[in-house]
Amino acid sequence: MDRIIDLRSDTVTMPTDEMRQAIANAKLGDDVFREDPTVNELEEKTAQIMGKEASLLVPSGTMGNLVSILTHCQRGTEILLGDKSHTFYYEAGGISAFGGIHSRQLKNQSDGTIKISDIQSAIRIDNVHFPRTAAITLENTHNLCNGSPLTPEYIRDVAHIAKNNSMKLHIDGARIFNASVALNIDVKDLVMDADSVTFCLSKGLSAPVGSIICGSDKFIYNARRIRKALGGGMRQAGIIAAAGIVSLDKMIDQIGVDHENAQLLADGIANIEGLSVDRGNIKSNILYFDIKKGKTRNKELINQTADRNLYPFDIILNNIYFLETGPSRFRLVTHYGITRKDIQSTLQILGEMLD
Ligand SMILES: Cc1ncc(COP(=O)(O)O)c(C=O)c1O
Repeated sequence: MDRIIDLRSDTVTMPTDEMRQAIANAKLGDDVFREDPTVNELEEKTAQIMGKEASLLVPSGTMGNLVSILTHCQRGTEILLGDKSHTFYYEAGGISAFGGIHSRQLKNQSDGTIKISDIQSAIRIDNVHFPRTAAITLENTHNLCNGSPLTPEYIRDVAHIAKNNSMKLHIDGARIFNASVALNIDVKDLVMDADSVTFCLSKGLSAPVGSIICGSDKFIYNARRIRKALGGGMRQAGIIAAAGIVSLDKMIDQIGVDHENAQLLADGIANIEGLSVDRGNIKSNILYFDIKKGKTRNKELINQTADRNLYPFDIILNNIYFLETGPSRFRLVTHYGITRKDIQSTLQILGEMLD
């Protein structure tokens, strides 16, 4: 059988052999008692990498965002977030369901930013009718906005507004290392103005499980209790942390390769009659392309997409897996499991998507 080329997400990455070895040999303890040496090492390491006082290991990016926002915001307060943000779209409404936090969605531009003027005018005045605006979250890179990296200048502008209005700034940096590689700057510079950041070990960094929250000592102290309340206190979690340490030591270079591969895919798709891609918009490992209006899908694609209008859903063409994320709009994500040769094979198959 042909090798499966899975471009649905960078979450499908498998742990490397070195991670498996590190997992097997990890020194363990009870992390709820803070006695797991491998978790402690990972938390110290990640705090240092991000230039923050402290870090906390959580099972997932979703829990990282939830714990962070619940730590910053009281029930009945409001948070500003992008209308295409992962937290608004894909995290099951957790901040409202579990935190009683009112979400105010502001329009995301195609580069993942929210207009500064939109942010300013959304902040509530002190009036008994209004919830208090307690926080804002930004996403970097921005998943639904072409994997765009947000610049430190933009983040600083938002941070100023937050500070001047006694609000907290949280960054959903699930792919913050993609942003740092895309912009060729230290990851610290992307988070220095934020009160907290979540990033994922289990996406482009290829660890099997785990995300990290970073912030001040006080923030992490409070976040640890909320993580426990949500059921995210794990015991011998060093088996997760061990792989995460390898991710940080060995996998950051892979991200540059993933970005090159995304560019190659985009260049190839731009040459396929009937498909369109905005090459200028591709800055990291996420790429969206469209079938041009009036073009007919081939039979295999029609069979998979007929009567489907709930997005995203999986597309399988021969041995290539990817997502349809909107009507005639598709997403490809490059990662550690994808080689140069896979890019060529993918382009061949995509060339056959249309009649
Ligand atoms: C931008 C962003 N934030 C958060 C998450 C959530 O991460 P997890 O799947 O680990 O919960 C994802 C997952 O794809 C994501 O793309």
